[in-house]
Amino acid sequence: VTYPDLVVVGAGLFGLTVAQQAVEKAGARVHIIDVRDHIGGNAYSYFDEETGAEIHKYGAHLFHTSNQRVWEYVNRFTEFTDYVHRVYATHDGEVYPLPTNLGTINQFFRAHYTPAEAKALIEEQAGELAGKDPQNLNDKGISLIGRPLYEAFIKNYTAKQWQTDPSELPASIINRLPVRFNYDNRYFKDTWEGLPKDGYTAWFERMIDDPRITMELGVDFFDASQPYNKAALNAAGVPVVYTGPVDRYFDYELGDLKWRTVDFKEVRYDEDDHFGCPVMNFSDADVPYTRAIEFKNFNPERHDSQNHERTVVWEEYSRFAERGDEPYYPINTEADKDLYAKYVELERTVPNTVFGGRLGTYKYYDMHQVIDTALTAYEEQIHPMLAK
Ligand code: FDA
Repeated sequence: VTYPDLVVVGAGLFGLTVAQQAVEKAGARVHIIDVRDHIGGNAYSYFDEETGAEIHKYGAHLFHTSNQRVWEYVNRFTEFTDYVHRVYATHDGEVYPLPTNLGTINQFFRAHYTPAEAKALIEEQAGELAGKDPQNLNDKGISLIGRPLYEAFIKNYTAKQWQTDPSELPASIINRLPVRFNYDNRYFKDTWEGLPKDGYTAWFERMIDDPRITMELGVDFFDASQPYNKAALNAAGVPVVYTGPVDRYFDYELGDLKWRTVDFKEVRYDEDDHFGCPVMNFSDADVPYTRAIEFKNFNPERHDSQNHERTVVWEEYSRFAERGDEPYYPINTEADKDLYAKYVELERTVPNTVFGGRLGTYKYYDMHQVIDTALTAYEEQIHPMLAK
């Protein structure tokens, strides 16, 4: 095999950004491999034939950023719709707006509080445990927004996310629970947000549309029978960007980093619109899933070309990930952080390899953060390697 200048393991946003930069900034020849049968990593989506919905295969993905460098970069490859993310929650037979705002509060307390009155009320309710250091997530939640709102909107939802009663969870899982004392229910506070106009996958394909970039899907970096495997590339001294799980790279020799995963259950309805919004949270214990995504509603601008008789919904069930599950959210206990630090020590023993992305660095990153870290990693670590 004649190796290229750079091998990228993982066709997610980190890998694609690095590959695009290597071609543009160094004229490099880049080969990308991914063990999955599609590009885009967890941000991949496909169009559902029956309904016309764009289904985000690994959970709802909304692009948002306040980072100008990232916004300018992504706009080179896609236009964005004017979608603005808003979430609703079903609790005790009623639908409320989230994040908790004056509309939520006034509906919940059947009141017409002014911002100042609502603030005073929440402060008073949050004072229930005043002077006590919250020992668990339950107490922390109460001390942040008061018992009534905490028990209605946070407690059972969190229990479902963690499959654990919040009184058994560490207080450190939540630092703050935002409450807005006005009617603003726009979910993100970022300068820019939107969805890629013709879908995520079209965006990603444009990033690597260059003859100097080749790609193979369905190829595992750890499969020694294929030429772009770890041992062969290391022996040949080929620069590698690795965006898979860092513990897997070292064959879990120091132990497994812990993650949560999500199972999706697809439901179809004979309706044009089932929820009237893209994301419905279920705050109560009697509904076993945390939330449901109605994908058609992310793209109202496509309504004319969608099926008006059918809609597709994915219910999300959260649980701890075992080896072999899709790792989604790093659990990040102190033990995990220590373990990750030890893997970082091991990385120093591997020449010509850059570890990046959410799996390679054991971090929850939004898409804009992954692109930002990829642009920086390219400049600081990868470009110097290619210039050698
Ligand atoms: P990513 O996981 O996407 O890519 C890594 C790639 O490496 C994968 O394609 C994998 O198959 C491949 N790989 C791994 N091991 C391999 C091996 N041995 N050989 C070959 N290939 C291998 N962000 C946001 O901005 N807005 C949002 O709304 C959401 N929503 C959201 C929901 C859920 C449920 C999750 C889990 C995440 C989000 N995100 C998000 C975050 C977003 O998914 C994330 O920022 C990017 O997908 C990360 O891109 P990476 O390239 O780092 O990893």
